[in-house]
Amino acid sequence: MEGAIDLRTRLKYLLMILSALWPPNRHDLWRLGNAFRCILSQSKEKVSSKPFYAQIEPTTACNLSCRFCLNPTLTVRHTLSYDDFLQALNGLPTLLMLNLQGLGEPTLNKDLFRMASEARRRKIYTFTVTNLNLPELIIDKLAQSDFSAINISMESIDPDQYSWYRVGGDLALLEQNLQMLKEKRESYGTDFVVGIWTLITEDTIDKVHEIFQFAKGSGIIERIQFVFLTDKKSHLDNYDGDLRKQLVVNRRATASDIRKRLRALSKEFGILGYLVEGRCRWLWTGIFVNAEGYVAPCCNIKNYREPAWGNIRLEENLAEVWQGNEWNMVRKGILSESDGHPSCTGCPYLY
Ligand SMILES: C[S@@+](CC[C@H](N)C(=O)[O-])C[C@H]1O[C@@H](n2cnc3c(N)ncnc32)[C@H](O)[C@@H]1O
Ligand code: SF4
Ligand code: SF4
Repeated sequence: MEGAIDLRTRLKYLLMILSALWPPNRHDLWRLGNAFRCILSQSKEKVSSKPFYAQIEPTTACNLSCRFCLNPTLTVRHTLSYDDFLQALNGLPTLLMLNLQGLGEPTLNKDLFRMASEARRRKIYTFTVTNLNLPELIIDKLAQSDFSAINISMESIDPDQYSWYRVGGDLALLEQNLQMLKEKRESYGTDFVVGIWTLITEDTIDKVHEIFQFAKGSGIIERIQFVFLTDKKSHLDNYDGDLRKQLVVNRRATASDIRKRLRALSKEFGILGYLVEGRCRWLWTGIFVNAEGYVAPCCNIKNYREPAWGNIRLEENLAEVWQGNEWNMVRKGILSESDGHPSCTGCPYLY
């Protein structure tokens, strides 16, 4: 997660992590102690703790070409092997939370569900995010899966607007699949939570309540994560003119107003809604592993080879990589009032 979330949502995540760990053994207590050290070190340029969160990219293959996403600009696609996934998990023994998602549709990796099961066996709270424009066979696998949470991406409840953002996407198919997921979850008796991840743009900003209405009507959505359409330079360079007009002007000032609205809507609908915004937290909590096995400070940094952030096949101890000099330079950049490390240029989470 790039930015900050409010205290109420943080507490909810803590409870979810604890329930995945319960009952804790000595190793689990050690992992919890490390996570608290991570949180306490958030204003430090050097860390002695190890990451408790990882985002691991299952694949860069995708079935859609969303207007706002860098995925359609990729020229080569990669899929993470199960062995590489195990190598990454073994190199990160302090993990408490895992996001199996990257720049692609995670369900296109045939080993995704084995990965979720292995992470659950290690008592790691594991979630993913999908476009849900998927065949029934995959909905069936999702419904039987060991994920703790499955999130569905959607920007609008209007079919035309949805397809404007999600080129090749079909809202009717998403809705049909969401109901199927609900029925199958009931019949399999699985326990994952279902959420929505959605973008705030100039067009969607006044329709936040519609997403809550949709979520309530679905009878399965329990939480909604909002993020601003990113204005990081590397993304901006790939936006078309119409999408650039969708960027929220003055997002920092807007954030506090949105948080107020989300609190009221959460109460009204009984669904947790929260905004991810604020100073970058990645460097003190998490690590990103891409589908080729390269690691980076976050999912927004795409220059994996230069500087060399690390690779799961070369480094057994990813936590040591995380404490390395190049990573400390990024920490320093985020904490200073400057433009940050060159890899972070133009990032909206440089507060
Ligand atoms: C890259 S997608 C990968 C997972 C899956 N394919 C999906 O669409 O949910 C993960 C999340 O990143 C978000 N995302 C992609 N491009 C973005 C951008 N330019 N600004 C903010 N969020 C973005 C998507 O909306 C989605 O919720
Ligand atoms: S479905 Fe997800 S990964 Fe694919 S283009 Fe859309 S946002 Fe990007
Ligand atoms: S680009 Fe830099 S500041 Fe932005 S989220 Fe990534 S690590 Fe944090």
